Amino acid sequence: MTQDEMKKAAAWAALEFVEDDSIVGVGTGSTVNHFIDALGSIKDRIKGAVSSSEASTERLKELGIEVYDLNSVASFSVYVDGADEINARNHMIKGGGAALTREKIVAAVADKFVCIIDNTKEVDVLGKFPLPVEVIPMARSYVARELVKLGGDPVYREGVVTDNGNVILDVHNMQITDPVATEEQINAIVGVVTNGLFAARGADHVIIGTPEGAKQR
Ligand code: 5RP
Repeated sequence: MTQDEMKKAAAWAALEFVEDDSIVGVGTGSTVNHFIDALGSIKDRIKGAVSSSEASTERLKELGIEVYDLNSVASFSVYVDGADEINARNHMIKGGGAALTREKIVAAVADKFVCIIDNTKEVDVLGKFPLPVEVIPMARSYVARELVKLGGDPVYREGVVTDNGNVILDVHNMQITDPVATEEQINAIVGVVTNGLFAARGADHVIIGTPEGAKQR
């Protein structure tokens, strides 16, 4: 099985968490694109979706799935999204697709976070994948200097502007042994919108695509 086939297996398995007549929280990325296709196959059973990016919104609409403004939805049961890394405690690094802030906001409103990954995303310690940090453009250099003080090696993601009009610093060479503390510490730097650690609010369910098919943990 290819990595993409494992992503697809995990994504389609997540349909079991989708309740009839519900609004579904939808993340961003290549794994989620498979989930959006899966949602398209049951679109008459759901009310619609709330989306974490312009890219996912466009794909949902192309399939005829109604996309609701998050401000008009007080609660919904399930948010489905991928991850760049996940540890055994279901803390994640996300933001490889630069959608981390909207992803964190939509995840915060959902009752349950269902993480869909292929088996290459499981790690013992987070940080091999560079940690994305969304930053207000004028604060870029200041925030980079503060990240160096924390022991990281920030790299400006050239040419990328987030859906919120901000920039991304990818922080290399961090061994994140206390993800909850690191998430809080980086978010406290003035000029940071949010960082890609999803630890304070981790995943509630993880579906892993493997060569033997989708497995849950
Ligand atoms: C986007 C994300 C994605 O969930 C993460 O990058 C995983 O992407 P993929 O499913 O393409 O491997 O956080 O901001």
